[in-house]
Amino acid sequence: MQIESNRCGSILHWSWTMTLSAVEVTNLKQAPAVEGVLPVFHKRWSARAFDDRDVNAPDLRKVFEAARWAASANNEQPWRFLVGTRNSTIHEKLFECLVGFNKTWAGSAPVLILGVASNRFTHNGAANSYAMYDLGAASSYLTLQASALGLTTHQMAGYDHEAARRDLEIPEDYVLGSIIAMGFQGEPQTLGNEQLIERELAPRARKPLRELVFSAWGKTAMLG
Ligand SMILES: Cc1cc2nc3c(=O)[nH]c(=O)nc-3n(C[C@H](O)[C@H](O)[C@H](O)COP(=O)(O)O)c2cc1C
Repeated sequence: MQIESNRCGSILHWSWTMTLSAVEVTNLKQAPAVEGVLPVFHKRWSARAFDDRDVNAPDLRKVFEAARWAASANNEQPWRFLVGTRNSTIHEKLFECLVGFNKTWAGSAPVLILGVASNRFTHNGAANSYAMYDLGAASSYLTLQASALGLTTHQMAGYDHEAARRDLEIPEDYVLGSIIAMGFQGEPQTLGNEQLIERELAPRARKPLRELVFSAWGKTAMLG
């Protein structure tokens, strides 16, 4: 197959008739390897196409095991995850909360997970302003572990938070994070919609390190 590439190896021109396998898409979406950086950081990306395989229970356990070992303020571990596998009531309820765009693709994910975090410290009831921060760290561990297991994850903020709190009975003192779709990456054509397929094949982009790391405010750090 002829694929037109840009310098990052990503597709520039995609035609509706072009078919790509899940493996070919994964290869296209990889961030360039950097020696000494753990490969999983470059491997993980957020797919929207899922194939029909279910995630087995031991692998599901492993992604939460990884999340469990994230650092947190005062070791509070404020995160809680509500997990729904395909055909379960929780999966159905989480799916129903999604905004329209996310509904067009996320329903085929065999696992949907809602991450939430307690906004109070257990030991003294004081406000924990780092709850969401810690949930983000745990969620990152989860997504990276999933990637290491050959799974793909896609986090979503696009859902009706009020409905999720109500329908999933999340207590008021928990902040709501993302809904995470997880499963095995599928072929982009299964998305069945030109716009979604284009997004699936779009190049991945990141700001350069020089814009992100300073030695003084606004001054690029020399990182070698
Ligand atoms: C907190 C959060 C919320 C997101 N919400 C959505 C969403 O509602 N719908 C969606 O399609 N993607 C969503 N994304 C996915 C991002 O668009 C994606 O992570 C970003 O473009 C970087 O791509 P990559 O994960 O493939 O590196 C979300 C990601 C995060 C971390």
